[in-house]
Amino acid sequence: MKILVINGPNINMLGIREPGIYGKQTFADLLSLIDKTAREEYLDIEQFQSNHEGAIVDKIQESYKKVDGIVINPAAYTHTSVAILDALKSVAIPAVEVHISNVDARESFRQISYPGMYCEKTIKGQGLDGYRQAILYLKEAYGK
Ligand code: DQA
Repeated sequence: MKILVINGPNINMLGIREPGIYGKQTFADLLSLIDKTAREEYLDIEQFQSNHEGAIVDKIQESYKKVDGIVINPAAYTHTSVAILDALKSVAIPAVEVHISNVDARESFRQISYPGMYCEKTIKGQGLDGYRQAILYLKEAYGK
C-alpha cells in the first residue's frame, strides 16, 4: 500500500514555532516517526512538505492512480483553501486530515476546514502521534 503524507506551510518549523502549541519535537523528528511507522507497518510512505498552496495542489494531482491513501496536514491552508479541497475531490483518493494542535479549542478562524470537507476522518490535538493514527486508519480501511 502506498501512502502520501503531505504537510503544509510552517510545519517544517516544528520545534521552533510556538512550542507551547506544537511541542518541542522537530520536523526531522516527524519525518523519522513517519518513516518508522512505514517500516513497522510494511507500508510505502512518501513524504512531502511545501509552504506553497499550488505546489500542494500539484502534488495531489500527481498522486492520481499512484497512491492508495493521503494523510494531509494542510496547516494554515486548512482554513482558506478551496483549491486543496477541489484537488482532493479530483483525485478521489481516501484521505485523512491531521492537526497537531486541538484546533477546536483555538481561534474562531481555525474552526473551518475546507480540505476536511473531503477527508473521511480528522485527527486533532494528538501531537505528532496523530500522523501515525491516520496512517494506521488508512491501512486498516484500505490496506492490501
Ligand atoms: C495546524 C493548525 C492550523 O490552524 C495552523 O495554521 C497550522 C498547524 C496543526 O497542525 O495544528 O499551521 O494545522
